[in-house]
Amino acid sequence: MKVGLLTSGGDCQGLNAALRAVAMSLYTAVPDVKLYGIQGGYLGLIEGAWRPMKADDFSGILKLGGTILGTSRQPFKTMRLSDQNNPDKLSRMLANCKKGGFDALVILGGNGTHKTAHLLSQNGVNVVTLPKTIDNDIYGTDITFGLDSAVQRASEVIDAIHTTAASHGRVFVVEVMGHKVGWLALYAGIAGGADVILLPEIPYDAGRVADVINRRAEQGRGFSIVVAAEGALSAEAAALSKKQRKEYTDGTSAGVRVARDIGELLGQEVRVTVPGHFQRGGDPSPYDRVLCSRLGSVAGQLVAAGQFGVMTAVLDGKIVPVPLSEVAGKLKTVPPDHEIISQARTMGIAFG
Ligand code: F6P
Repeated sequence: MKVGLLTSGGDCQGLNAALRAVAMSLYTAVPDVKLYGIQGGYLGLIEGAWRPMKADDFSGILKLGGTILGTSRQPFKTMRLSDQNNPDKLSRMLANCKKGGFDALVILGGNGTHKTAHLLSQNGVNVVTLPKTIDNDIYGTDITFGLDSAVQRASEVIDAIHTTAASHGRVFVVEVMGHKVGWLALYAGIAGGADVILLPEIPYDAGRVADVINRRAEQGRGFSIVVAAEGALSAEAAALSKKQRKEYTDGTSAGVRVARDIGELLGQEVRVTVPGHFQRGGDPSPYDRVLCSRLGSVAGQLVAAGQFGVMTAVLDGKIVPVPLSEVAGKLKTVPPDHEIISQARTMGIAFG
């Protein structure tokens, strides 16, 4: 049996731990399996770039950040586009799957990756996927790997900002990643003891945020920490059309807009910290190492059993296969009435 391994989209912690688990599980279930590392995400499949891998290649990578296979972003919308010189990317990938003689592909990726994985599966490729992203926005799984490690990174930053904010009596906005959803901001905000957490799912009112900060100041707390998801929008901006919103937000990040909006109302300078890709780098947390090991183990078993067209998902604490048709093209956002939000509100954390 020949199996191609591929990591696609933005990287995150735990990709190597997951690859290691897939390999170990496959070596156990199918001792003569031949594994191939497809290089640089779907680009490697498009261009026919892969290398044979040995058991040793998966040794010592459990805690290594990034991906030993490399990765890239290949937007789903470009998959069927062709130009005069080249057939479309989908056709090239299908041709290369045949050329490589792959009996199956194990694909680790986020939302865009899952749309393409589903497309490959619909076109006859035997695919098993693993849900990877710090954004935790993949539909059909309770959690994605990468989230926990990124929460750890983001909360380290918030912790550090806390001490300097307290010394100077300053208001800080920490802008965290998460793309269009607020899971990372929600967890990092709570873990980091934020006073206000702004999520894309709950458009904020700058006046209300300023009131919270003023109230804290009246109570003798001269500093405040606002954690804003990179997709956070004011209620005003959220009401605009897509085009108007693009003009409104153009060239500014959410953190900068929040700082500007509340700074004007508070009559004081509000500082902004953007940890950026720091959140995606470095070692996976122990939780993610376990999660990746479990997801990878099941992915290997599914390939060995010939069960394809599925993503390994976490549902109620168990690792189960979920059909790609139920996952691809859907987004898992934070429900504004999620119990974590109501619990945080009871502790006085504001959501703008
Ligand atoms: O999807 C993961 C993520 O880190 C998002 O949180 C963020 O919006 C995006 O990727 C950044 O992408 P890039 O690394 O391509 O700048």
